[in-house]
Amino acid sequence: MAPSAVPIHGNYHGYYAKRPSVNDPRLEVLPTATFTNKRVLDVGCNEGWVSCEIAQSHGASKVVGVDIDDMLVRAAWRRRRTVWSAQGPPIDEETDATGTSRKRKRAPNPVGEADYFPASCAHSLGPLPIPPSAPHLFPHNVSFRTADWVNDTIPEDEGGYDVVLGFSITKWIHLNGGDAALKTFFGRVAAVLPPGGQFVVESQAWETYRKAKRMDKKLRDMAQGLALRPDDFPRLLAEIGFGEPVRLGSVGDGGFHRPVDLYTKL
Ligand SMILES: C[S@@+](CC[C@H](N)C(=O)[O-])C[C@H]1O[C@@H](n2cnc3c(N)ncnc32)[C@H](O)[C@@H]1O
Repeated sequence: MAPSAVPIHGNYHGYYAKRPSVNDPRLEVLPTATFTNKRVLDVGCNEGWVSCEIAQSHGASKVVGVDIDDMLVRAAWRRRRTVWSAQGPPIDEETDATGTSRKRKRAPNPVGEADYFPASCAHSLGPLPIPPSAPHLFPHNVSFRTADWVNDTIPEDEGGYDVVLGFSITKWIHLNGGDAALKTFFGRVAAVLPPGGQFVVESQAWETYRKAKRMDKKLRDMAQGLALRPDDFPRLLAEIGFGEPVRLGSVGDGGFHRPVDLYTKL
């Protein structure tokens, strides 16, 4: 997608400066093992902060972030390098009650401490090289694609996923493509998940559509014809094979205070 002056897809640049998300609170309300050894698709990954956090700190075997805006996807690849460069060496020591450090057997999935090296290291010395390692280990377990995921497939879709994330994206799909696009999106999520697969949605409230409509005439015109509302999402998802959602909580500050819902495919 060519960069547009108006972020009509919610393709905000510098989004995570406004929405600080190291230890993203939306991930913290999820059940602990949600991502452990799971293949995850992050739809609308923006600059990749959430995708990288899941890949680094939540034990996912594979995370694919997809975004409609190629500049954001490039930034996501840079973010991956930044997060890697701040990560410490694999932890292979433990300290006993007396404070004595003892060697222990290296864990099968050794992960270094996040934010071990200060950002100034990578700034002044350049990012750390990424050595080869197993594909399920960070940062090899996270990659990014540019695509309009409502209308286009990406190669990874073929193998399916265990978890799909849809954080702060339903409004943008709805306003750009109408009720039909939203149904297509939900249908595609159902198609890439096996029974038991999970769809995590943080949807924007209907009242917030008003501000987005003011961005652009296309969105304003589209909004006129919308019959569906965010309250209809559980019914729509039930019609295509998801169970009742579990509301995990409402997190985020100010305008970002939104509910996080977990749907399981039956
Ligand atoms: C408001 S941002 C949310 C970013 C991220 N999911 C989060 O909540 O931290 C919405 C993102 O969805 C992307 N997006 C919108 N429509 C999309 C589509 N059809 N396919 C892929 N990405 C899309 C935008 O480019 C933008 O980066």
